[in-house]
This record gives sequence, structure tokens and C-alpha cells, in this order.
Amino acid sequence: MPNDGRSPATSVSDTITVLEVVTGSPEETEALAARLAGLLRAGDVVAVSGELGAGKTTFVRGAARALGVREPVSSPTFTIGHRYDAPVPVAHLDLYRIAGIDPEEWADLEPYFDGTVAFVEWPEHGGDWLPETRATVTLNHVDESHRQVSIDSDDDLGL
Ligand SMILES: Nc1ncnc2c1ncn2[C@@H]1O[C@H](COP(=O)(O)OP(=O)(O)O)[C@@H](O)[C@H]1O
Ligand SMILES: [Mg+2]
Repeated sequence: MPNDGRSPATSVSDTITVLEVVTGSPEETEALAARLAGLLRAGDVVAVSGELGAGKTTFVRGAARALGVREPVSSPTFTIGHRYDAPVPVAHLDLYRIAGIDPEEWADLEPYFDGTVAFVEWPEHGGDWLPETRATVTLNHVDESHRQVSIDSDDDLGL
């Protein structure tokens, strides 16, 4: 349902839905991600949720590009994450295959968050181990080319 972007989320925390839009193409999703990217700084963690094919990696690609990443951005399928050089380095993690994080696993993950803007697909699989997020992006299928994209945060992010 369209709203003015200021309606409260159902979460018990102070999280608000900063933006809720429907994009009509991958390029539109990337452009939206670029807008969010412009507001992020080193140390920020963005959770990117949604089912397979919802557009999580597409969103991260758009954000990474906007942050100055030149390499191709694809899903970290065979590793848990990628770290890209950029003026502020960008980390892209995919926790899909993680059943649960233990201290040993966290030792492998932690460096990805060090000095980066970090995007995490399947954040639900990270449990309590993930650092506090600056924003949560949730993508949902509308139809083949449309996705509903919600951006939630503790503050309005200036979006
Ligand atoms: N509006 C849209 N936004 C994002 N992706 C879209 C959109 N419409 C179609 N797509 C397609 O959906 C797929 C999303 O894939 P991907 O980003 O890898 O999803 P996920 O990482 O959530 O599994 C891509 O093939 C993309 O081209
Ligand atoms: Mg993906």
C-alpha cells in the first residue's frame, strides 16, 4: 500500500519505514540503491532481505556502483563475502548457506565489517552476531519486472 514514507513499522524498536516504493526494472532498483548509498558512511551495515530472485544482489550492485566500485558485483556464491576497493571499501555478504554463526565463523566474518559499508543478504541467518544495522532493505516480488522495496531505519536517513 502506498504511503507517505513516514508510517511506523510494526517493530517494537523505533524503526521507521523511511521509503516504500515499487520499482519497474532492475535499473530502477539500482538507482534507488544509489540514492541510499549516497547517505552511507564507513561502518554502516545495511541488511538486504527478500526471497530468492527478489533483487537483493541487484540492489547491492546499484549501491556498490554508486560508492565507486568498478568491478562486477555478483552474488558471493562460493565464498561468504566479497570486499571491493572504493573510496570507502564496500563489503557484500551472503549468509544464505550459513545455518548459524559461531565464534569461529564470526572470526571470518568480522573483517568484512572493518572500515566498510557492508551489505548483508540473508541477514536473518546472522542472528545476533551481525553489527547493528543502519538500514534494512526489504524486497518483495510484485510481478516479473516489479519489486516492492522498503527501506527501514532508526532515523529518516535524509532520504
Ligand atoms: N524491479 C526489479 N528490481 C530488481 N530486480 C528485478 C526487477 N525486475 C526484474 N528483476 C530481475 O530479478 C532478478 C533479481 O535477481 P537478484 O538481484 O540476484 O536477486 P536475489 O539476490 O534477491 O536473489 C534479476 O534477474 C533481475 O534482472
Ligand atoms: Mg543474491
